Amino acid sequence: MEAARALRLLLVVCGCLALPPLAEPVCPERCDCQHPQHLLCTNRGLRVVPKTSSLPSPHDVLTYSLGGNFITNITAFDFHRLGQLRRLDLQYNQIRSLHPKTFEKLSRLEELYLGNNLLQALAPGTLAPLRKLRILYANGNEISRLSRGSFEGLESLVKLRLDGNALGALPDAVFAPLGNLLYLHLESNRIRFLGKNAFAQLGKLRFLNLSANELQPSLRHAATFAPLRSLSSLILSANSLQHLGPRIFQHLPRLGLLSLRGNQLTHLAPEAFWGLEALRELRLEGNRLSQLPTALLEPLHSLEALDLSGNELSADFSGFQSHRPRTTVCALSEADLIEFPCDRFMDSAGGGAGGSLRREDRLLQRFAD
Ligand SMILES: *[C@@H]1O[C@H](CO)[C@@H](O)[C@H](O)[C@H]1NC(C)=O
Ligand SMILES: *[C@@H]1O[C@H](CO)[C@@H](O)[C@H](O)[C@H]1NC(C)=O
Repeated sequence: MEAARALRLLLVVCGCLALPPLAEPVCPERCDCQHPQHLLCTNRGLRVVPKTSSLPSPHDVLTYSLGGNFITNITAFDFHRLGQLRRLDLQYNQIRSLHPKTFEKLSRLEELYLGNNLLQALAPGTLAPLRKLRILYANGNEISRLSRGSFEGLESLVKLRLDGNALGALPDAVFAPLGNLLYLHLESNRIRFLGKNAFAQLGKLRFLNLSANELQPSLRHAATFAPLRSLSSLILSANSLQHLGPRIFQHLPRLGLLSLRGNQLTHLAPEAFWGLEALRELRLEGNRLSQLPTALLEPLHSLEALDLSGNELSADFSGFQSHRPRTTVCALSEADLIEFPCDRFMDSAGGGAGGSLRREDRLLQRFAD
């Protein structure tokens, strides 16, 4: 009897010991904390950032995912205990305002995703504590203006997405703090005005997409692109461009890809592509070019692919033979095929230089139809 009671007592004690200790991590409501370093609160119908005050060691949290919720405001205290955070995902919410002190404690943050919210501005100084930030997505918001201080402090930034906003102009030197930036996405905005100093200090930038803006009135000054001496891809498609300023690309010695696709270009100056010694791919399809100056391709010593399809070319191209790099693969509308002096053509799928056909095969293909 005595022994049975002792055993029962022992079982009770053991049972007690097996219960979770009181200091067990308490996960924020509706989130998943299976891994102490990753706080997962994606697609949980949240309207505010959950409180993390119950976490015993918020300093362990390295990534915090809050995408796909209904969060509207970010306060000064939402992240102030998460000083070790490396990655913060707030995409696909309804964020309209960021408190100026939101990121004050996040000096270790490397990736910040704010895409697809309702932000109208990036107030000067708000991002300044993020000295280690490498990736910033602010695409798909309603940002209509940037100020000189918008990117202050982001000296480690490598990739910046601002596409799909409502930007109309870029203030002088707005990106100047971003001396390490490699990728800049500005496509699908309403940029009409590019000042001479818009890209000041972006000496390392490799990729710039300005497609689907309204650059027609403003692409005039070669000085605009002058700081971009490392640029290798420049996308200027769908901007309603009717003409290009003289020698506008002359300061881009490393440029490998230039796309002017889908503009309204009716003519090009003989020196339009002056200085583009490294250019490998030139996309001019879908414009309204009817003739090309004979010397147009002369500076393009490295050209490998030229797309002229979807224009209205009709001129005599006999003068081109001497100025065309022999390696170039071309794409042309059927109507222009015979006249233009090119030996290799992109296949009809337009798959770039990889899918090239010999001129004879292309002609055979054409007449076989
Ligand atoms: C968000 O902030 C705005 C302005 O600061 C305030 O008017 C609004 O009530 C806040 N909304 C919520 C859900 O806290
Ligand atoms: C540039 O932006 C346009 C418009 O959004 C997009 O269609 C295109 O794929 C982008 N180009 C590159 C090379 O990323």
